Formats: sequence, structure tokens, C-alpha cells
Amino acid sequence: MAYPIVRNRRLRGSAGLRGLVRETQLDAEDFMMPIFITEGEGVREEISSMPGVYHWSLDTMERELAELTEAGVRSVMVFGVPDRKDALGTSAYDDNGIAQRAIRKMKALYPELVVAADNCLCQYTDHGHCGVVHTTECGAEIDNDESLELLARTAVSQARAGADIIAPSNMMDGFVLAIRKALDEAGFESVPIMSYSVKYSSAYYGPFREAAHSAPQFGDRKTYQMDPANAREALREAQSDIDEGADFLMVKPALAYLDVIRMLRDRYALPIVAYNVSAEYSMVKAAAKMGWIDEKAIVLETLIGMKRAGADLIITYHAKDAARWLRGD
Ligand code: PBG
Ligand code: ZN
Repeated sequence: MAYPIVRNRRLRGSAGLRGLVRETQLDAEDFMMPIFITEGEGVREEISSMPGVYHWSLDTMERELAELTEAGVRSVMVFGVPDRKDALGTSAYDDNGIAQRAIRKMKALYPELVVAADNCLCQYTDHGHCGVVHTTECGAEIDNDESLELLARTAVSQARAGADIIAPSNMMDGFVLAIRKALDEAGFESVPIMSYSVKYSSAYYGPFREAAHSAPQFGDRKTYQMDPANAREALREAQSDIDEGADFLMVKPALAYLDVIRMLRDRYALPIVAYNVSAEYSMVKAAAKMGWIDEKAIVLETLIGMKRAGADLIITYHAKDAARWLRGD
């Protein structure tokens, strides 16, 4: 028999054939767009390290929501950027906090939009940590259990404002159960929890911290976020969240952790979420601006890679652009 015996190229011969055998699809329905809402009026301030991503105030966010829905993006993740911070992150669980007002307005304007609320304290605390800090002579410590109480209050307040999904990103131990119990007791047993289950301590959050003004004022997040060197530990984080009642499992960041996405996908039946984080976005935007890469092709290839690794949905700052590209705009 003539060599080569196997001709894999046969199925690549035309766009039609390639379409028939394509294993993974990108769909705007699977994108969730993060959105930063700030106090004030008439605000539309571009985040310098994230070109194309803005701070919006309550009156201007309507424009962004209109563009997103027009593009086919059907869900957002709300991040509040408050003007008031204190040691206990009080504005996080204030029914009139910036995130709560934003959620109420979004649901009033777009009842069909799926609004997820990031649940953490770091944007709201003056020290910038995700939980309550106690300072002793031996240094500063994050009080896990005291933080849970405040995070649970935040979740209930977000649900009361109309959030469709509570997305806790704080990485305290036991946060899923604490939030689940509080939601259930307040009558929100139908509101799902999208847990940032496997969240690594990552330099890839740098631009986000500029955007959210949430960089820790001392120390780092290594005592609660995971060590990038660990994969088996991800199973423990995922398992405890499942046991506590999580409805989605998230891996964050995405690009450097595709193996972890695949591992969770193979083991668990819950929807797997990939968070394509801020620096993953900024790197692409910077290289594209320099003319070194084809932005559209790079973004679509990256997003399909995340789906192929096993993500069911992707939280991405590229959501609006990618949705438009998929429509052929
Ligand atoms: C808050 C939070 C962070 C991100 C999402 N929620 C930052 C952090 O933990 O420091 C990062 C998102 C991104 O980089 O795009 N806990
Ligand atoms: Zn945080």
C-alpha cells in the first residue's frame, strides 16, 4: 500500500468538511461580561491597563448594557467600585451600596439579563483584603469565620437587590455553606452559587486591582488564594464546594490553568466556569496595539481553547467583541 496510509488531511479539505467535524463551538450565550460600576454621574472612564473596559456610573451603564445585549451577550458579572471603604467593608452589604443599586437598575432595565454578583470584601475594605483583618503583635491575620458572616450578609443583600447568581470570590474556608445557609434562611433558596472554587494567587489579577481599586495595602493573598504549583489541591477545593452546595465550579485564571479546567471537567458534573482574567486580556490588547498579533484570531483561539479544555462558560472582558465577531460583524 502506498504511503501515507492514514490521511488526516482528508477531513480538512473544505470549510464545509471542517465544520462537520468541528468538536467545539463558541457561542455568545456562554459568555459572561464583567462590568465595573462606580459612584458619580456621567462617568465613562477607561481603565488604563484594560483598553476597552470602563468604569460606568449608574446613569451611563445603560449604554454598555445596550451594546452587550445587542451583541448577544446575555449575562454580566457586577463589580462595585465604592467611594467609601472601611475596615469591615460595610458598603459591601449595604442595601444601598453601589453594587446593589447597579443590580436593581440592571434588572429593571433588562429583566432577561443574567446578573451575577461578585461576592467579596476587597473592593470595600480600606486594607484591600478579601476578609476581616485582625492585627496582633505577630502581624496581620485574616479572620476566616468572622469574614463568613459579612460575606453571607453581602450575598443576601445582593440577592435582595435581584442578583440571579451569587459568585463568591473571597476564598475563605466554608464560604459556600455560609452563603447557602444565609440565602436559604432569607428565602433565596433558588439563587445559585457560582463558586470561585479554584482561585489561584496570581499576578494575572494586576490590571483588575487597578480597575477595582482593590490591591491589598499590606501583604498578599497567599494565605487564602491557592499556590499556582498545585493541581491536586484543586480537587479538595472543588470537592468541599460541591459538598457545601455550590452550583457552578470556577477555575481562575484560565489560560495558565487549562489542565485544572480539564481535571475538574473529567471528575465533576457541575458546570465548569473559566475566568479569562484581566492580565490575560491586557496582554492581548497590548500586543494587538503594537501590531504584533491579530487580535480577533488570538481571542477566538484562546476562548475555544478554554472550551476545549472543558469550560462550559467563560467570564471574559472580550465578551462583547467576541460575540460580535461570532456574528460576523
Ligand atoms: C475579588 C476578585 C478579583 C478578581 C475577581 N474578583 C481580584 C483578586 O482576587 O485579587 C480578579 C479578576 C481579574 O483579574 O480579572 N476577590
Ligand atoms: Zn477579594
